[in-house]
Amino acid sequence: MLRRFCRPYRRWFVIGPLTKVVEVLFEIVTPLLVAHMIDRAVAGADSSELLSIVGLLAAMAVVGFLSTLACQKVAALTAQGFGTDLRSALYAQVNELSQEQVDAFGTASLITRITSDVNQLQLAVALTIRMLIRWPVLAVLSVLSALLIDWHLGLVFLLCLPVVGVIFWVVMGRSLPFFRVAQEKLDRVSAIVREGLAGTRVVRAFVREGHEQQRFEQAAAEQADVSVSAGRLSALLNPLTLLVLDAGIAAILVLGGGRVYAGNLTQGQLVAFVTYMNQALVAVGYVANLVITYTRAGASARRVTEVLNAVPSVRTAADAQAGLPAAPACALELRDVSFTYPGGGAPALQHVSLSVPCGARLGIIGGTGSGKSTLASLFARSYDASAGSVSVLGQDVRAWDLAQLRGCMGYVPQRVALVRGTVRSNLLWGRDDATDAELWEALERAQAADFVRALDEGLDAPVEADGRNFSGGQRQRLTIARALVRQPRVLVLDDASSALDYATDARLRAALQEMDGLDATVIVSQRVASVRAADLICVLSGGEVMGLGSHDELARGCAVYREICETQHVDLPEACMLEGGR
Ligand SMILES: Nc1ncnc2c1ncn2[C@@H]1O[C@H](COP(=O)(O)OP(=O)(O)OP(=O)(O)O)[C@@H](O)[C@H]1O
Ligand SMILES: [Mg+2]
Repeated sequence: MLRRFCRPYRRWFVIGPLTKVVEVLFEIVTPLLVAHMIDRAVAGADSSELLSIVGLLAAMAVVGFLSTLACQKVAALTAQGFGTDLRSALYAQVNELSQEQVDAFGTASLITRITSDVNQLQLAVALTIRMLIRWPVLAVLSVLSALLIDWHLGLVFLLCLPVVGVIFWVVMGRSLPFFRVAQEKLDRVSAIVREGLAGTRVVRAFVREGHEQQRFEQAAAEQADVSVSAGRLSALLNPLTLLVLDAGIAAILVLGGGRVYAGNLTQGQLVAFVTYMNQALVAVGYVANLVITYTRAGASARRVTEVLNAVPSVRTAADAQAGLPAAPACALELRDVSFTYPGGGAPALQHVSLSVPCGARLGIIGGTGSGKSTLASLFARSYDASAGSVSVLGQDVRAWDLAQLRGCMGYVPQRVALVRGTVRSNLLWGRDDATDAELWEALERAQAADFVRALDEGLDAPVEADGRNFSGGQRQRLTIARALVRQPRVLVLDDASSALDYATDARLRAALQEMDGLDATVIVSQRVASVRAADLICVLSGGEVMGLGSHDELARGCAVYREICETQHVDLPEACMLEGGR
C-alpha cells in the first residue's frame, strides 16, 4: 500500500545503497591492508613500501567519506519527499472521508497519524537507504573474511550467531504490540491538548486548569509508561547481543593467541581477524536498531494505511446524474427520514417527512439537542440518512454529483469555521472567482459590510485561526457572507444568527428575502423571531416532528410551538410590530 509512495524515488533506493556498498567494500579491504602492513613491518620492510600502503588507505578513506555524504543526501531527499507525498495523500483522503468516518477516527488521532506516524515511516525510509544494505552486508562480509583468514577460529564466531538470532526473535515479538499502544496513547495526549487549547478561555473561566492539567498529566504518564515498557524490552537487545559477541571475541583472543604461537596465524592476521569480529559486532548492533525502527514503522504503517484504505462512505454514486435540475417543483424533500449517529444510542431524527416548495423558506425550531443541526446537515450530505430519503432540487442526494450538490448549496454551520488568512481569502472559499464587488454585495446582505469597511485594511484585514480576532456576531456574519458569495440555490443557516441582536437579525432576514436565484432557504434557530416568517416551520423535539406549518397555524395548533412562543414572550401584536417596522 505504502509502496506506491516510494515508487517516485525508486532510483534513489538503488543509488543510495550502492554508494554504501562502495563504503562497505573499503571497510572490508582495510583490515587486510592493515594486516599486510603489520606483517611487512614485522618482517622489516622499508618505510617507502609502508608509506604507499598508508597513501592507499588515506585515498580509500576520502572516497568512502564522499560516498557517505552522497548517500546521506539521497536518503534525506527521499525520506522528505516520501513523507511530504504521504502527508498530502493523507490530508486529501481525510477531506474525502465523511463526517461520520472522521468522527470515528477522531480528529486528534488523524493529526497524530499525519504527523508522528508519518515521521516514523520517514525514519524507516531514510534508514532503508542508509543502513539496510550496509550493516547486513558488512556483517556477512566481515564474517566471511574472518573465516577465510582462519576457519578454525571462525567457528567460534559462527556459534554465537544462532544465540543472537533467538534473542532478536524473543525481544521483537514481545515489544511489537507495545508500539501500537504507544501511538494510541499519543492520540489521547494530543486529543487533550487540542481540547485544552481550543477551549482555553472556557477552561480559565471555569477555573478548570488544575483538572485539565491533571487529565493531561495522567494521559502523558500513561503514554510514557507504555513507551518505557516498549523501550525497556528493546533496550535489552543491544546489551544482550553485545554480551554474546564479546564473549565470542574473548574466546577468539585466547584461542588465537595459541594459534599465533604455534605459527598457524601471523600477528597481522590476528589483528585483522579481531577487527572483522568487531565490525560484525557493531553491524549486528545496528541491525538490531534497524529491526526496532522497522517494528515501530510497521505499527505506524498500519495506522496510516487504515486511513488511506478507508472508503469514503459518502461519495458520488457511479450512476450520479451530471447537470443541475432546472426548475423542480419541490426544492427540498424528506421522506420518512431517520438518522442515528454511529455509535450514538438514541436516534437523532425519527420519521421526519416534509417538503419545501421551490422558492420557499423552511424554518426549523426546537430545544437544544432536538436534532435541528442533524436535520440541516442532511441536505449537504454531511451524513447519509439511516433510513428514508432526502431530495434536493427534485433529486435524491445520493444521485447527485457530490461536488455539484455542495457547489449549489450555501451552508452556514452552527460552529463558525473561519480560517487563518484575510477577510477576502475566507470569502473566496464561497467561490474562487468572485469579484470584489460581489464580495461587498455578499457582505452587505450578511450585514457585515459596516464593520469590514471600518477595518483599516478592509477586505485584506487579517483573520486569525478560527476568526478569533472577531467577535462572535462578526464571525457569524462573515460566515454567512461566505455562503452568499457562492450565490447558492439552497441556503442553509444553522443557528447562524444566534449571536446577532434582534434588529440585525431582522435586517439580515429581510436582505436574504430579496435574494435572487434562491430555490430554498433553511433557517435553523431556537428563536421564534428568526423562523416565524418562514413559509414552513418544522418543530422538533427529541428528533421527532411535533408540528409542521406556518407560524399562525402552529401558534393555533401545536402545543410545543406555543410553549416555545410563551417562554420567549412572543405575543403576536408585539412580534408583528417588530416585523412590520422593517
Ligand atoms: N457527532 C455526533 N455524534 C453523536 N451524537 C451526536 C452528534 N452530534 C449530535 N449528536 C446527538 O444528536 C442529537 C441532536 O443533536 P443536534 O446537534 O442535531 O441538536 P440541535 O437541535 O442542533 O441542538 P442545538 O440547538 O443545541 O444546536 C443530540 O442528542 C446529540 O447528542
Ligand atoms: Mg444545532
